[in-house]
Amino acid sequence: MENVTDLFAPRLLKVQKSFIREILKVAANPEIISFAGGLPNPDVFPVREIQISCDEVLRRDGYEALQYSTTEGYLPLREYIAAEYNAGYDLHIKPENILITNGSQQGLDLISKVFIDKDDKVLIEKPGYLGAIQALSIYQPEFIGITLNNDGVAPQELAEILNNNAIKLFYTVPNFQNPSGVTYSYNVREKVAAQVAKHNIILVEDNPYGALRFSGSDQPPFRKWLGPQSIMLGTFSKTVVPSFRLGWICADHDIMEKALVAKQGADLHTNYFCQKVVHYFLTHFDMQAHIEKTKQAYKKQCDAMIGAIENYFPKGVTFTKPEGGMFIWVTLPRKIPSLKLLELALQDKVAFVPGNPFYIDGGGGNSLRLNYSNSNPDQIEIGIKKLALAMKKLMEE
Ligand SMILES: Cc1ncc(COP(=O)(O)O)c(C=O)c1O
Repeated sequence: MENVTDLFAPRLLKVQKSFIREILKVAANPEIISFAGGLPNPDVFPVREIQISCDEVLRRDGYEALQYSTTEGYLPLREYIAAEYNAGYDLHIKPENILITNGSQQGLDLISKVFIDKDDKVLIEKPGYLGAIQALSIYQPEFIGITLNNDGVAPQELAEILNNNAIKLFYTVPNFQNPSGVTYSYNVREKVAAQVAKHNIILVEDNPYGALRFSGSDQPPFRKWLGPQSIMLGTFSKTVVPSFRLGWICADHDIMEKALVAKQGADLHTNYFCQKVVHYFLTHFDMQAHIEKTKQAYKKQCDAMIGAIENYFPKGVTFTKPEGGMFIWVTLPRKIPSLKLLELALQDKVAFVPGNPFYIDGGGGNSLRLNYSNSNPDQIEIGIKKLALAMKKLMEE
């Protein structure tokens, strides 16, 4: 064999390695204060409860819990998820509408596999979730970006894009978006849904952070207006633990059938034991108290970061104020490239993710994403102060 790279499938050649995962390697140095990753706060992981749940599942189900299982997923867990949707917004979700996946990231891959061929048009927020850009890219779509404002995308811009392009799929994260922390207002949701309803497209609503709202009031999912025209992706990564890799796709029958085939080809089924353990945890412990504890922790961390930003960041720097989730989006004055800021910050042992990789069209060069859920308030104060100094240095140059 002369050159293995000549043998690679063209569909993979343009897909970048995750930039964040590369920064995380640097940020893994314990001396670095890292606002780069998107890791949940491990202090809230329910370690004791998960240990009890593991023991109890093994004691109760023994051999059966360790066997192969169905592609759709553990029925009681799917029933639980459907009931949660219906309790919140009366969405008429049945367990048959839920496919348990290996994290919501696999949900993204399966949906891409079901819908996207080369050059199909996919609409995504600017900035957009990097993991979605990566998952979708493998299927070689043409990405079209739509600006994300502080209350969601602009319905008028959406109308124009949808009228002028045969979009197949609109991918959106309407609650505490990764990377911006932005939440769509009720008004914007309603108008976006009205536009989408006029076209033969699918709206994919990815909602990993919705349960982690620490201020403001909950907003309905797009499904309220769009019904089967929307697919919802969910996950237990942020509300229970990420290591189990448990998420789900919620969609109507025809899409489910295809997603099931896609999943069978990928991995037959999601980890059965973990599904049972999480179901045991959800139904035997006080989930409300657990979520409340998680929200309080994130609120404290977010308040610490916003407070430090307000105290130290130079004039001309703007930032979002999230009502939940894990991220703040910072915009620097135009002439300051965030990649340059990253170089300086890393010398001073602070890490973050520059904005550019979150843009499918090369924008975002003067913006950055800050994560607050994986640093304590003292680290946040020190890290933000250092970042502010680096910003001032660049602004004076
Ligand atoms: C918007 C969004 N979607 C999906 C995921 C993937 O989550 P998981 O695969 O752990 O469910 C993440 C993780 O950070 C995310 O931020």
